[in-house]
Amino acid sequence: MNILIVGEGGREHALAWKAAQSDLVDTIFVAPGNAGTQQEAKVSNVAISVDDIDGLILFSRENSVDLCIVGPEGPLVQGITDAFIAAGIKCFGPCKAAARLEGSKIFAKEFLLRHQIPTASYASFSSLKPAVEYVKAQTMPIVLKADGLAAGKGVIIAYSEVEAITTLEDILANALFGEAGASVVIEEFLHGEEASFMCMVAEGKVLPFASSQDHKAAYDGDQGPNTGGMGAYSPAPVVDATMFEKIMTSVIQPTIDGLQTDGLPYTGFLYAGLMIDEQGIPKVIEYNCRMGDPETQPIMMRLESDLVELCLAAVNGSLPACARWSDKVALGVVLAAEGYPASYVKGRKIGFDESLKPVASVKIFHAGTRADGADIVTNGGRVLCVCALGDNTQLAQSKAYAAIEGISWQGMWFRKDIAYRAVRREEA
Ligand code: AMP
Ligand code: GLY
Repeated sequence: MNILIVGEGGREHALAWKAAQSDLVDTIFVAPGNAGTQQEAKVSNVAISVDDIDGLILFSRENSVDLCIVGPEGPLVQGITDAFIAAGIKCFGPCKAAARLEGSKIFAKEFLLRHQIPTASYASFSSLKPAVEYVKAQTMPIVLKADGLAAGKGVIIAYSEVEAITTLEDILANALFGEAGASVVIEEFLHGEEASFMCMVAEGKVLPFASSQDHKAAYDGDQGPNTGGMGAYSPAPVVDATMFEKIMTSVIQPTIDGLQTDGLPYTGFLYAGLMIDEQGIPKVIEYNCRMGDPETQPIMMRLESDLVELCLAAVNGSLPACARWSDKVALGVVLAAEGYPASYVKGRKIGFDESLKPVASVKIFHAGTRADGADIVTNGGRVLCVCALGDNTQLAQSKAYAAIEGISWQGMWFRKDIAYRAVRREEA
């Protein structure tokens, strides 16, 4: 069978790499893909952008695509799944109505409240004056979130009242995030340790994935500006067996049941961003209607089941309750371009040291890369994600960092402490 994967990041490279291992698959098309997807056996890039839904459907018809797997949130929120299904092509991803869980923070908060799923207390506003009054009555820090999709930049943690008010002015009065910031959620700041919990969902059935944790801050020690994620690892030690059960019963199952109750049949990946507080209570920070990036990369390294078989089972309504996982630790370090997460330079030639032999337990996933003749050049802020499997976190970490020594380009930088919490736990 032929598969179409929509997207161009590290997440999609990892999905394509894993899907290509399936005996069910003849060809995987990735639209538009990157230099890494293009190099994989059985995989071909297709120059169609992720939001050209008509173009993707036309291509799928002409190339006998049997199943589409959608990577990023944009096309899902735009309604790609509805369009594929209407065209008679199977598509793994939530429909437009259900993708609002990510597409609107207000929708998500109302959903959480309605179904009594633990989350931060909040209020929402579409005009400045009442928003400012509300902020003045709260304790700092406080979290301000643009309601709509804002390319991962729509969440601001304000540490002082002045900062909160200035930010509200930027969003509500000065349209900092355009239409996405026409309304804001103002939310209680949660303390604790974050974890990413992803699953596959198919109309009331759920298959939980292995736990993971990413590092959103740019610099070592989780300092500096927020990014899309500078590295990730799986499993997340904070999600032990007890916590896993707690997350399933207090967050995931009520979410699945709530979607059914609300008449929002959900088929696709579902991501709950969680804050686990000192009392061990997991609270939902956000939902994403897709897999996380870079969490997908280490998670796919650990997945032993056939990804395509699972996606097919899901769209056919027979999703199994669990998958097979390697008991090793997987860890990925993002290599970023000069300037990221602010504006960054593109088009720099990436050097891969040919003397470094490929190792089965190490995989370099591409994100912002493009082929330029025989060269591979940078084409995004997050450029590569170097992943390794190891018997424990420290071993996975040293393998990943050793592999990075063979990669360089002008301005390349990365965090040196990915998984430091897990390593500390192992040392204790
Ligand atoms: P998001 O863009 O929704 O992934 O949020 C970015 C980051 O902001 C999250 O990963 C958290 O680190 C942080 N964040 C969001 N909401 C809260 C909250 N209510 N309390 C503390 N941190 C938060
Ligand atoms: N790494 C977090 C996300 O994909 O939203």
